[in-house]
Amino acid sequence: MTAAYPPFPLSRPRRLRRTPAIRAMVRETTLTPRDFIYPLFVRHGEGRTPIASMPGIAQLSVAEAVTEARTAWELGVPAVILFGIPATKDSIGLENFAPDGIVQRAIRAIKAELPDMVVVTDVCLCEYTDHGHCGVLSSGEHAHPHLEEGFVLNDPTLDVLGQVAVSHAEAGADIVAPSGMMDGMVGAIRAALDEKGFAHIPILSYAVKYASGFYGPFRDAAEGAPKFGDRASHQMDPANGAEALREAAIDVAEGADMLMVKPGLPYLDVIRRVKEAFPELPLAAYNVSGEYSMVKAAAANGWVDEQRVVLELLTGFKRAGADLIITYHALDAARWLQET
Ligand code: PBG
Repeated sequence: MTAAYPPFPLSRPRRLRRTPAIRAMVRETTLTPRDFIYPLFVRHGEGRTPIASMPGIAQLSVAEAVTEARTAWELGVPAVILFGIPATKDSIGLENFAPDGIVQRAIRAIKAELPDMVVVTDVCLCEYTDHGHCGVLSSGEHAHPHLEEGFVLNDPTLDVLGQVAVSHAEAGADIVAPSGMMDGMVGAIRAALDEKGFAHIPILSYAVKYASGFYGPFRDAAEGAPKFGDRASHQMDPANGAEALREAAIDVAEGADMLMVKPGLPYLDVIRRVKEAFPELPLAAYNVSGEYSMVKAAAANGWVDEQRVVLELLTGFKRAGADLIITYHALDAARWLQET
């Protein structure tokens, strides 16, 4: 293909870069606020608690979450994804599927004020468990004869995830997004939703989620850091790319309606591969907390132009193949896109 182009001086790519209008005509990728899903951290109590490691982001009361969701909606951002910080934590995370749990309350409040806004919920255990792990642990009544104390058990976790997804759907969630990287989570949640009359609720699977250092600030924000060990027994090894296709294929077979790759920046190649393997399925990229905080820190020091680098990196996600971007930059980026 490239060989067919005549050499310089016949070929002069600069001809198509001469004016802003010409550049706009030949632009291949468009970024719009409709591409964004804005994450909200909801907690009990009143007001906002800023998150030191994520400048501009705060833990929100239910009322503040509604205000923040309205700001997003008015800027053309159609969706939020909710993370809850419960009042109390225990070994399996009971508030995660309580009808008056913090996320359930936030869903109802946002849908009451903004019925057309798409409310996505993160379905995982780590913010709700006292040990900070994404599943039921081998211990006490759940002790597994052949696995060490504290190992994250797969199959007992599936039952809890099903209950959490149903509870979110009952509160009015539009889309559920399991993020725990348990095997069979999509199938278990699909079955649980269908059984309770929620066959119409789509599953956005965090199908390809890596064991990443870039989740650091999120774990402050959501207060969900593991109390011991790490998540490497379920999240993917950053060195693996082909395995992402297997993870995605399994989730598609279990009924995932949409897929996600997470984090984003170090995995643009994976976004591209998953999009090419499953072009029919909408693909989301999660521009995670550490990616956000790096940009904010560099911008605060005057080392990069925040607006420029944020729009450049979000465009990069779309160019790589993402249809949707979960990003803490959503409100700023939507404002900048409206201005330009
Ligand atoms: C798990 C979950 C995590 C993130 C989203 N969902 C944390 C983890 O896996 O440890 C991280 C998102 C971010 O860093 O912005 N509930």
